[in-house]
Amino acid sequence: MNSLVQDARKAGARVGLAGDRLTIHGGKPLKGTITVRGAKNLVTKAMVASLLGETESLLRGVPEISDVNVVRNLLEVHGVVVTEPEPGELLLDPRNVESAHFAEIDAFAGASRIPILFCGPLLHRLGEAFIPDLGGCRIGDRPIDFHLDALRAMGAVVDKSYEGIHLTAPDGLHGAMIELPYPSVGATEQVLLSAVRATGVTELKNAAIEPEIMDLIAVLQKMGAIIQVEPNRVIFIEGVETLHGYTHRAIPDRNEAASWASAALATHGDIKVIGAQQQELMTFLNVFRKVGGMFDVDDDGIRFFHPGTPLKPVVVETDVHPGFMTDWQQPLIVALTQAEGVSVVHETVYENRLGFTDALNQMGADIVVHKEGIESVTRRVPRRPLEQAAVVTGPTDLHGADVHVPDLRGGFSHLIAALAADGTSTISGVGIISRGYERFLDKLQALGADFVLED
Ligand code: EPU
Repeated sequence: MNSLVQDARKAGARVGLAGDRLTIHGGKPLKGTITVRGAKNLVTKAMVASLLGETESLLRGVPEISDVNVVRNLLEVHGVVVTEPEPGELLLDPRNVESAHFAEIDAFAGASRIPILFCGPLLHRLGEAFIPDLGGCRIGDRPIDFHLDALRAMGAVVDKSYEGIHLTAPDGLHGAMIELPYPSVGATEQVLLSAVRATGVTELKNAAIEPEIMDLIAVLQKMGAIIQVEPNRVIFIEGVETLHGYTHRAIPDRNEAASWASAALATHGDIKVIGAQQQELMTFLNVFRKVGGMFDVDDDGIRFFHPGTPLKPVVVETDVHPGFMTDWQQPLIVALTQAEGVSVVHETVYENRLGFTDALNQMGADIVVHKEGIESVTRRVPRRPLEQAAVVTGPTDLHGADVHVPDLRGGFSHLIAALAADGTSTISGVGIISRGYERFLDKLQALGADFVLED
Protein backbone atom coordinates (compact mmCIF):
# COMPACT_ATOMS: atom_id res chain seq x y z
CA MET A 1 0.00 0.00 0.00
CA ASN A 2 1.50 3.36 -0.94
CA SER A 3 1.61 6.32 1.41
CA LEU A 4 -1.12 8.19 -0.45
CA VAL A 5 -3.57 5.43 0.26
CA GLN A 6 -2.40 5.17 3.89
CA ASP A 7 -2.94 8.88 4.24
CA ALA A 8 -6.38 8.47 2.80
CA ARG A 9 -7.19 5.88 5.42
CA LYS A 10 -6.05 8.30 8.09
CA ALA A 11 -8.31 10.94 6.60
CA GLY A 12 -11.17 8.50 6.73
CA ALA A 13 -10.62 8.02 10.43
CA ARG A 14 -10.75 11.74 11.08
CA VAL A 15 -14.17 12.32 9.71
CA GLY A 16 -15.46 15.82 9.91
CA LEU A 17 -12.11 17.48 10.54
CA ALA A 18 -11.72 20.53 8.39
CA GLY A 19 -8.00 19.90 7.92
CA ASP A 20 -8.29 17.18 5.26
CA ARG A 21 -7.46 18.84 1.97
CA LEU A 22 -7.23 17.32 -1.45
CA THR A 23 -5.48 18.97 -4.38
CA ILE A 24 -6.94 17.74 -7.64
CA HIS A 25 -5.50 18.24 -11.11
CA GLY A 26 -8.59 17.82 -13.26
CA GLY A 27 -9.44 17.34 -16.90
CA LYS A 28 -8.69 13.60 -17.11
CA PRO A 29 -11.45 11.06 -17.77
CA LEU A 30 -11.99 8.55 -14.95
CA LYS A 31 -11.50 5.07 -16.39
CA GLY A 32 -11.32 1.65 -14.80
CA THR A 33 -13.10 -0.75 -12.47
CA ILE A 34 -14.15 -0.27 -8.86
CA THR A 35 -16.29 -2.28 -6.43
CA VAL A 36 -19.15 -1.14 -4.20
CA ARG A 37 -19.94 -3.11 -1.06
CA GLY A 38 -22.92 -3.08 1.31
CA ALA A 39 -25.22 -0.06 1.39
CA LYS A 40 -24.46 2.48 4.14
CA ASN A 41 -28.19 2.97 4.60
CA LEU A 42 -28.75 -0.73 5.29
CA VAL A 43 -25.55 -1.85 7.02
CA THR A 44 -25.83 0.68 9.86
CA LYS A 45 -29.49 -0.28 10.47
CA ALA A 46 -28.77 -4.02 10.36
CA MET A 47 -26.08 -3.43 12.98
CA VAL A 48 -28.69 -1.78 15.23
CA ALA A 49 -31.08 -4.69 14.58
CA SER A 50 -28.52 -7.09 16.09
CA LEU A 51 -29.36 -5.54 19.49
CA LEU A 52 -32.80 -7.15 19.29
CA GLY A 53 -31.45 -10.71 19.09
CA GLU A 54 -30.67 -13.13 21.90
CA THR A 55 -27.77 -14.60 19.91
CA GLU A 56 -24.91 -13.43 17.67
CA SER A 57 -25.47 -11.91 14.23
CA LEU A 58 -23.09 -12.05 11.26
CA LEU A 59 -23.25 -9.19 8.75
CA ARG A 60 -21.40 -9.49 5.44
CA GLY A 61 -20.49 -6.89 2.82
CA VAL A 62 -19.74 -4.24 5.46
CA PRO A 63 -17.95 -1.23 3.93
CA GLU A 64 -15.11 0.64 5.64
CA ILE A 65 -16.97 3.88 6.21
CA SER A 66 -17.03 6.06 9.26
CA ASP A 67 -20.80 5.79 9.79
CA VAL A 68 -20.21 2.07 10.42
CA ASN A 69 -17.53 2.97 12.97
CA VAL A 70 -19.88 5.33 14.80
CA VAL A 71 -22.59 2.66 15.08
CA ARG A 72 -20.03 0.03 16.06
CA ASN A 73 -18.71 2.22 18.87
CA LEU A 74 -22.20 2.98 20.07
CA LEU A 75 -23.06 -0.73 20.13
CA GLU A 76 -19.84 -1.45 22.03
CA VAL A 77 -20.57 1.10 24.76
CA HIS A 78 -23.88 -0.75 25.23
CA GLY A 79 -22.07 -4.05 25.80
CA VAL A 80 -22.33 -5.55 22.29
CA VAL A 81 -19.11 -7.39 21.46
CA VAL A 82 -18.17 -6.63 17.85
CA THR A 83 -15.46 -8.57 16.00
CA GLU A 84 -14.39 -8.95 12.36
CA PRO A 85 -14.05 -12.65 11.48
CA GLU A 86 -13.06 -11.72 7.90
CA PRO A 87 -12.51 -8.40 6.16
CA GLY A 88 -15.94 -6.93 5.39
CA GLU A 89 -17.68 -9.03 8.05
CA LEU A 90 -18.96 -8.04 11.47
CA LEU A 91 -19.90 -10.51 14.17
CA LEU A 92 -22.19 -8.78 16.66
CA ASP A 93 -22.74 -10.44 20.04
CA PRO A 94 -25.56 -8.73 21.99
CA ARG A 95 -25.78 -11.22 24.85
CA ASN A 96 -24.50 -8.80 27.48
CA VAL A 97 -26.28 -5.60 26.53
CA GLU A 98 -26.04 -3.05 29.32
CA SER A 99 -26.83 0.58 30.00
CA ALA A 100 -24.10 2.95 28.93
CA HIS A 101 -22.92 5.97 30.87
CA PHE A 102 -24.25 9.28 29.65
CA ALA A 103 -20.72 10.54 28.86
CA GLU A 104 -19.97 7.47 26.71
CA ILE A 105 -23.11 7.98 24.64
CA ASP A 106 -22.75 11.73 24.49
CA ALA A 107 -19.32 11.30 22.91
CA PHE A 108 -21.23 10.46 19.72
CA ALA A 109 -23.40 13.57 19.76
CA GLY A 110 -23.44 15.10 16.31
CA ALA A 111 -21.59 12.17 14.71
CA SER A 112 -24.46 10.44 12.89
CA ARG A 113 -28.24 10.18 12.67
CA ILE A 114 -28.32 6.43 13.29
CA PRO A 115 -28.43 6.67 17.14
CA ILE A 116 -32.13 7.61 16.93
CA LEU A 117 -32.75 4.04 15.75
CA PHE A 118 -31.39 2.65 19.02
CA CYS A 119 -34.62 3.76 20.78
CA GLY A 120 -36.80 0.68 20.23
CA PRO A 121 -34.08 -1.96 20.66
CA LEU A 122 -32.76 -0.34 23.84
CA LEU A 123 -36.27 0.04 25.27
CA HIS A 124 -36.82 -3.67 24.67
CA ARG A 125 -33.46 -4.70 26.08
CA LEU A 126 -33.01 -2.25 28.94
CA GLY A 127 -36.32 -0.50 29.50
CA GLU A 128 -34.75 2.87 28.75
CA ALA A 129 -32.72 4.65 26.10
CA PHE A 130 -30.67 7.80 25.98
CA ILE A 131 -30.13 9.30 22.54
CA PRO A 132 -27.53 12.04 22.08
CA ASP A 133 -27.98 15.09 19.91
CA LEU A 134 -28.10 13.85 16.32
CA GLY A 135 -25.72 14.64 13.50
CA GLY A 136 -25.66 13.60 9.86
CA CYS A 137 -25.52 15.80 6.80
CA ARG A 138 -26.71 19.39 7.13
CA ILE A 139 -29.20 19.23 4.30
CA GLY A 140 -32.23 20.72 6.05
CA ASP A 141 -33.91 20.75 9.45
CA ARG A 142 -34.10 16.96 9.63
CA PRO A 143 -36.66 16.81 12.45
CA ILE A 144 -37.40 13.57 14.37
CA ASP A 145 -41.05 14.26 15.17
CA PHE A 146 -42.31 11.23 13.18
CA HIS A 147 -39.93 8.99 15.17
CA LEU A 148 -40.99 10.33 18.55
CA ASP A 149 -44.72 10.34 17.72
CA ALA A 150 -44.49 6.69 16.63
CA LEU A 151 -42.59 5.72 19.78
CA ARG A 152 -45.14 7.53 21.95
CA ALA A 153 -47.96 5.72 20.14
CA MET A 154 -46.25 2.47 21.11
CA GLY A 155 -46.07 3.39 24.79
CA ALA A 156 -42.74 5.20 25.11
CA VAL A 157 -42.38 8.21 27.38
CA VAL A 158 -40.10 10.79 25.81
CA ASP A 159 -38.18 13.28 27.90
CA LYS A 160 -36.26 15.88 25.91
CA SER A 161 -33.43 17.88 27.39
CA TYR A 162 -30.70 20.06 25.93
CA GLU A 163 -28.33 17.07 26.19
CA GLY A 164 -30.48 14.66 24.19
CA ILE A 165 -33.54 12.48 24.56
CA HIS A 166 -34.30 10.09 27.39
CA LEU A 167 -36.95 7.42 26.75
CA THR A 168 -38.62 4.95 29.03
CA ALA A 169 -41.45 2.48 28.49
CA PRO A 170 -42.99 1.79 31.93
CA ASP A 171 -45.36 -0.88 30.53
CA GLY A 172 -43.18 -2.02 27.65
CA LEU A 173 -43.81 -1.17 23.99
CA HIS A 174 -47.10 -2.26 22.44
CA GLY A 175 -48.46 -2.41 18.90
CA ALA A 176 -50.19 0.66 17.48
CA MET A 177 -51.86 2.11 14.39
CA ILE A 178 -49.38 4.57 12.95
CA GLU A 179 -49.70 6.68 9.82
CA LEU A 180 -46.61 8.62 8.81
CA PRO A 181 -47.25 12.13 7.43
CA TYR A 182 -44.56 11.35 4.79
CA PRO A 183 -42.94 8.01 3.85
CA SER A 184 -39.83 8.72 5.91
CA VAL A 185 -37.06 6.15 5.64
CA GLY A 186 -35.83 6.66 9.20
CA ALA A 187 -39.28 6.72 10.80
CA THR A 188 -40.25 3.51 8.96
CA GLU A 189 -37.10 1.85 10.29
CA GLN A 190 -37.89 3.20 13.75
CA VAL A 191 -41.31 1.54 13.69
CA LEU A 192 -39.92 -1.74 12.34
CA LEU A 193 -37.15 -1.94 14.96
CA SER A 194 -39.58 -1.08 17.77
CA ALA A 195 -42.64 -3.11 16.71
CA VAL A 196 -40.97 -6.47 16.05
CA ARG A 197 -40.71 -7.18 19.78
CA ALA A 198 -43.68 -5.11 20.98
CA THR A 199 -46.81 -6.82 22.30
CA GLY A 200 -49.55 -7.02 19.68
CA VAL A 201 -49.82 -5.90 16.09
CA THR A 202 -48.60 -2.64 14.58
CA GLU A 203 -50.11 -1.30 11.40
CA LEU A 204 -47.86 1.22 9.69
CA LYS A 205 -49.40 3.31 6.92
CA ASN A 206 -47.54 5.50 4.42
CA ALA A 207 -44.33 3.54 5.05
CA ALA A 208 -41.13 4.02 3.07
CA ILE A 209 -40.35 1.06 0.82
CA GLU A 210 -36.76 1.79 -0.26
CA PRO A 211 -34.73 -1.34 -1.14
CA GLU A 212 -32.65 -0.81 2.01
CA ILE A 213 -35.87 -1.01 4.06
CA MET A 214 -36.84 -4.24 2.31
CA ASP A 215 -33.39 -5.58 3.14
CA LEU A 216 -33.84 -4.56 6.79
CA ILE A 217 -37.16 -6.42 6.79
CA ALA A 218 -35.31 -9.44 5.39
CA VAL A 219 -32.80 -9.18 8.26
CA LEU A 220 -35.61 -8.97 10.83
CA GLN A 221 -37.45 -11.89 9.24
CA LYS A 222 -34.27 -13.97 9.52
CA MET A 223 -34.25 -13.04 13.23
CA GLY A 224 -37.75 -14.44 13.72
CA ALA A 225 -39.91 -11.35 13.14
CA ILE A 226 -43.32 -11.46 11.44
CA ILE A 227 -43.62 -8.54 9.02
CA GLN A 228 -46.18 -8.37 6.24
CA VAL A 229 -45.63 -5.80 3.47
CA GLU A 230 -49.00 -4.95 1.92
CA PRO A 231 -49.82 -2.91 -1.18
CA ASN A 232 -50.00 0.91 -0.92
CA ARG A 233 -47.21 1.43 1.60
CA VAL A 234 -48.87 -0.52 4.43
CA ILE A 235 -46.78 -2.74 6.71
CA PHE A 236 -48.15 -5.05 9.42
CA ILE A 237 -45.81 -6.14 12.18
CA GLU A 238 -46.87 -8.89 14.59
CA GLY A 239 -44.75 -8.54 17.68
CA VAL A 240 -42.91 -11.63 18.93
CA GLU A 241 -41.40 -12.26 22.36
CA THR A 242 -37.87 -13.09 21.34
CA LEU A 243 -35.64 -12.78 18.29
CA HIS A 244 -32.36 -14.50 17.53
CA GLY A 245 -29.30 -13.47 15.54
CA TYR A 246 -29.02 -13.40 11.75
CA THR A 247 -26.52 -14.10 8.99
CA HIS A 248 -26.94 -11.63 6.18
CA ARG A 249 -25.12 -10.10 3.21
CA ALA A 250 -26.04 -6.44 2.82
CA ILE A 251 -27.45 -5.24 -0.49
CA PRO A 252 -24.88 -3.24 -2.48
CA ASP A 253 -24.80 0.54 -2.15
CA ARG A 254 -26.90 1.84 -5.04
CA ASN A 255 -26.24 5.45 -4.04
CA GLU A 256 -22.50 4.92 -4.32
CA ALA A 257 -22.96 3.13 -7.66
CA ALA A 258 -25.04 6.05 -9.01
CA SER A 259 -22.37 8.48 -7.82
CA TRP A 260 -19.63 6.72 -9.78
CA ALA A 261 -21.94 6.54 -12.82
CA SER A 262 -22.31 10.33 -12.74
CA ALA A 263 -18.56 10.65 -12.26
CA ALA A 264 -18.04 8.68 -15.49
CA LEU A 265 -20.43 10.97 -17.34
CA ALA A 266 -19.07 14.24 -15.94
CA THR A 267 -15.43 13.37 -16.72
CA HIS A 268 -16.00 11.79 -20.18
CA GLY A 269 -14.99 8.56 -18.49
CA ASP A 270 -15.76 4.85 -18.47
CA ILE A 271 -16.28 3.14 -15.10
CA LYS A 272 -17.26 -0.44 -14.42
CA VAL A 273 -18.93 -0.62 -11.01
CA ILE A 274 -18.75 -4.17 -9.68
CA GLY A 275 -21.69 -4.78 -7.36
CA ALA A 276 -24.05 -2.27 -9.03
CA GLN A 277 -27.45 -3.91 -9.50
CA GLN A 278 -29.84 -2.96 -12.28
CA GLN A 279 -33.06 -3.66 -10.33
CA GLU A 280 -32.19 -1.18 -7.59
CA LEU A 281 -31.03 1.44 -10.08
CA MET A 282 -33.76 1.29 -12.75
CA THR A 283 -35.04 4.81 -12.15
CA PHE A 284 -31.50 6.18 -12.13
CA LEU A 285 -30.61 4.27 -15.32
CA ASN A 286 -33.58 5.77 -17.18
CA VAL A 287 -32.46 9.30 -16.35
CA PHE A 288 -28.82 8.43 -17.07
CA ARG A 289 -29.87 7.19 -20.51
CA LYS A 290 -32.01 10.29 -21.19
CA VAL A 291 -28.97 12.46 -20.46
CA GLY A 292 -27.10 10.42 -23.05
CA GLY A 293 -25.13 8.20 -20.69
CA MET A 294 -24.34 4.68 -21.90
CA PHE A 295 -24.35 1.57 -19.74
CA ASP A 296 -23.83 -2.18 -20.07
CA VAL A 297 -25.41 -4.40 -17.44
CA ASP A 298 -23.43 -7.51 -16.53
CA ASP A 299 -23.89 -10.30 -13.99
CA ASP A 300 -21.30 -8.77 -11.69
CA GLY A 301 -22.01 -5.07 -12.14
CA ILE A 302 -22.69 -2.21 -14.54
CA ARG A 303 -20.29 -0.37 -16.85
CA PHE A 304 -21.17 3.34 -17.14
CA PHE A 305 -19.59 5.44 -19.89
CA HIS A 306 -19.77 8.75 -21.73
CA PRO A 307 -21.26 8.44 -25.26
CA GLY A 308 -18.60 10.62 -26.91
CA THR A 309 -21.37 12.88 -28.23
CA PRO A 310 -22.97 15.91 -26.48
CA LEU A 311 -25.07 15.19 -23.38
CA LYS A 312 -28.76 16.15 -23.28
CA PRO A 313 -30.63 18.18 -20.63
CA VAL A 314 -33.32 16.61 -18.43
CA VAL A 315 -36.05 17.56 -15.96
CA VAL A 316 -35.89 15.45 -12.79
CA GLU A 317 -37.88 15.40 -9.54
CA THR A 318 -36.40 13.67 -6.52
CA ASP A 319 -38.85 11.42 -4.73
CA VAL A 320 -39.22 8.47 -2.39
CA HIS A 321 -38.68 4.99 -3.87
CA PRO A 322 -39.35 3.99 -6.61
CA GLY A 323 -38.76 7.60 -7.64
CA PHE A 324 -35.45 9.31 -8.31
CA MET A 325 -33.53 9.27 -5.00
CA THR A 326 -32.52 12.59 -3.48
CA ASP A 327 -29.03 11.11 -2.97
CA TRP A 328 -28.55 10.79 -6.73
CA GLN A 329 -29.19 14.40 -7.71
CA GLN A 330 -25.95 16.02 -6.50
CA PRO A 331 -23.49 13.94 -8.59
CA LEU A 332 -25.87 14.02 -11.56
CA ILE A 333 -26.01 17.83 -11.50
CA VAL A 334 -22.27 17.91 -12.16
CA ALA A 335 -22.83 15.89 -15.35
CA LEU A 336 -25.75 18.17 -16.28
CA THR A 337 -23.38 21.17 -16.36
CA GLN A 338 -21.97 19.46 -19.46
CA ALA A 339 -25.34 18.86 -21.19
CA GLU A 340 -26.38 21.07 -24.11
CA GLY A 341 -29.38 23.05 -22.86
CA VAL A 342 -31.33 23.74 -19.70
CA SER A 343 -31.94 21.02 -17.10
CA VAL A 344 -34.20 21.37 -14.06
CA VAL A 345 -33.72 19.37 -10.87
CA HIS A 346 -36.58 19.63 -8.34
CA GLU A 347 -35.44 18.60 -4.86
CA THR A 348 -38.61 17.54 -3.06
CA VAL A 349 -37.25 15.48 -0.15
CA TYR A 350 -34.96 17.89 1.73
CA GLU A 351 -35.24 21.66 1.94
CA ASN A 352 -31.54 22.44 1.73
CA ARG A 353 -29.85 19.98 -0.56
CA LEU A 354 -28.75 22.27 -3.35
CA GLY A 355 -26.27 24.41 -1.41
CA PHE A 356 -23.40 22.46 -2.94
CA THR A 357 -24.12 24.14 -6.31
CA ASP A 358 -22.41 27.38 -5.11
CA ALA A 359 -19.07 25.62 -5.40
CA LEU A 360 -19.96 24.36 -8.89
CA ASN A 361 -20.75 27.94 -9.96
CA GLN A 362 -17.37 28.96 -8.53
CA MET A 363 -15.89 26.43 -10.96
CA GLY A 364 -17.71 27.99 -13.91
CA ALA A 365 -21.11 26.22 -13.90
CA ASP A 366 -24.33 28.13 -14.57
CA ILE A 367 -26.76 26.90 -11.89
CA VAL A 368 -29.56 29.03 -10.47
CA VAL A 369 -31.26 27.70 -7.32
CA HIS A 370 -34.90 28.68 -6.81
CA LYS A 371 -35.37 28.45 -3.06
CA GLU A 372 -39.17 28.21 -3.27
CA GLY A 373 -39.11 25.64 -6.08
CA ILE A 374 -40.60 26.33 -9.49
CA GLU A 375 -43.88 25.36 -11.10
CA SER A 376 -43.72 22.66 -13.73
CA VAL A 377 -46.56 21.38 -15.88
CA THR A 378 -45.05 17.93 -16.01
CA ARG A 379 -44.97 17.48 -12.22
CA ARG A 380 -45.54 13.97 -10.94
CA VAL A 381 -44.52 14.44 -7.30
CA PRO A 382 -47.00 16.69 -5.43
CA ARG A 383 -45.40 19.99 -4.48
CA ARG A 384 -43.99 20.06 -0.94
CA PRO A 385 -43.60 23.33 0.95
CA LEU A 386 -39.91 22.76 1.50
CA GLU A 387 -38.82 22.01 -2.03
CA GLN A 388 -36.18 23.80 -4.11
CA ALA A 389 -35.22 23.65 -7.78
CA ALA A 390 -31.90 23.99 -9.58
CA VAL A 391 -31.85 25.25 -13.16
CA VAL A 392 -28.66 24.10 -14.83
CA THR A 393 -27.65 25.68 -18.12
CA GLY A 394 -24.96 23.92 -20.10
CA PRO A 395 -22.54 23.15 -21.40
CA THR A 396 -20.11 25.20 -19.36
CA ASP A 397 -16.34 24.79 -19.15
CA LEU A 398 -15.41 23.99 -15.57
CA HIS A 399 -12.18 25.34 -14.12
CA GLY A 400 -10.34 24.66 -10.85
CA ALA A 401 -11.34 26.40 -7.62
CA ASP A 402 -10.85 26.16 -3.84
CA VAL A 403 -13.98 24.71 -2.26
CA HIS A 404 -15.10 23.18 1.04
CA VAL A 405 -17.14 19.98 1.41
CA PRO A 406 -20.62 20.84 2.75
CA ASP A 407 -22.05 17.31 3.23
CA LEU A 408 -21.59 13.74 2.02
CA ARG A 409 -23.20 13.77 -1.44
CA GLY A 410 -22.42 17.44 -2.04
CA GLY A 411 -18.80 16.67 -1.22
CA PHE A 412 -18.65 13.84 -3.71
CA SER A 413 -20.08 16.22 -6.33
CA HIS A 414 -17.29 18.67 -5.60
CA LEU A 415 -14.79 15.88 -6.18
CA ILE A 416 -16.33 14.99 -9.53
CA ALA A 417 -16.53 18.63 -10.60
CA ALA A 418 -12.86 19.16 -9.71
CA LEU A 419 -11.93 16.02 -11.65
CA ALA A 420 -13.92 17.22 -14.67
CA ALA A 421 -12.54 20.78 -14.46
CA ASP A 422 -9.47 22.07 -16.24
CA GLY A 423 -6.71 23.10 -13.87
CA THR A 424 -6.12 22.60 -10.17
CA SER A 425 -8.71 22.60 -7.37
CA THR A 426 -8.34 22.23 -3.64
CA ILE A 427 -11.14 20.62 -1.68
CA SER A 428 -11.07 20.89 2.09
CA GLY A 429 -13.00 18.79 4.58
CA VAL A 430 -12.85 15.63 2.41
CA GLY A 431 -13.01 13.45 5.55
CA ILE A 432 -16.80 13.85 5.46
CA ILE A 433 -16.87 11.89 2.21
CA SER A 434 -15.61 8.78 4.00
CA ARG A 435 -18.86 8.77 6.00
CA GLY A 436 -20.44 7.04 3.01
CA TYR A 437 -17.87 6.34 0.28
CA GLU A 438 -15.60 3.44 1.10
CA ARG A 439 -11.91 4.07 0.32
CA PHE A 440 -12.86 6.71 -2.18
CA LEU A 441 -9.27 7.84 -2.65
CA ASP A 442 -8.14 4.27 -3.46
CA LYS A 443 -10.94 4.13 -6.01
CA LEU A 444 -10.05 7.50 -7.52
CA GLN A 445 -6.47 6.34 -7.79
CA ALA A 446 -7.59 3.11 -9.53
CA LEU A 447 -9.57 5.26 -11.99
CA GLY A 448 -6.51 7.33 -12.91
CA ALA A 449 -7.35 10.54 -11.01
CA ASP A 450 -4.48 12.95 -10.37
CA PHE A 451 -4.59 14.20 -6.76
CA VAL A 452 -2.58 14.76 -3.59
CA LEU A 453 -3.91 14.54 -0.03
CA GLU A 454 -2.62 17.16 2.41
CA ASP A 455 -3.13 17.48 6.15
N1 EPU B 1 -38.92 14.05 8.21
C1 EPU B 1 -39.67 14.76 9.15
N2 EPU B 1 -39.78 14.24 10.41
C2 EPU B 1 -39.19 13.08 10.78
C3 EPU B 1 -38.43 12.34 9.82
C4 EPU B 1 -38.31 12.87 8.54
O1 EPU B 1 -40.20 15.83 8.84
O2 EPU B 1 -39.34 12.66 11.95
C5 EPU B 1 -38.76 14.60 6.85
C6 EPU B 1 -37.31 15.01 6.58
O3 EPU B 1 -37.03 16.28 7.09
C7 EPU B 1 -37.26 14.95 5.06
C8 EPU B 1 -38.18 13.76 4.76
O4 EPU B 1 -39.00 13.58 5.89
O5 EPU B 1 -37.81 16.11 4.51
C9 EPU B 1 -37.45 12.48 4.42
O6 EPU B 1 -36.57 12.09 5.46
P1 EPU B 1 -36.27 10.57 5.79
O7 EPU B 1 -36.69 10.30 7.18
O8 EPU B 1 -36.83 9.72 4.71
O9 EPU B 1 -34.70 10.54 5.70
P2 EPU B 1 -33.66 9.90 6.71
O10 EPU B 1 -34.12 8.61 7.21
O11 EPU B 1 -33.21 10.94 7.69
C10 EPU B 1 -32.40 8.50 4.92
C11 EPU B 1 -30.99 8.39 4.46
C12 EPU B 1 -30.64 9.59 3.62
C13 EPU B 1 -31.58 9.65 2.44
C14 EPU B 1 -33.03 9.69 2.93
C15 EPU B 1 -34.04 9.67 1.82
C16 EPU B 1 -29.92 7.16 6.21
C17 EPU B 1 -28.97 7.17 7.35
N3 EPU B 1 -30.12 8.32 5.61
O12 EPU B 1 -32.46 9.67 5.72
O13 EPU B 1 -29.34 9.39 3.15
O14 EPU B 1 -31.30 10.78 1.67
O15 EPU B 1 -33.28 8.58 3.80
O16 EPU B 1 -33.97 8.48 1.13
O17 EPU B 1 -30.48 6.13 5.86
C18 EPU B 1 -27.19 10.00 2.49
O18 EPU B 1 -26.96 8.79 2.37
O19 EPU B 1 -26.40 10.90 2.10
C19 EPU B 1 -28.43 10.41 3.11
C20 EPU B 1 -28.65 11.66 3.55
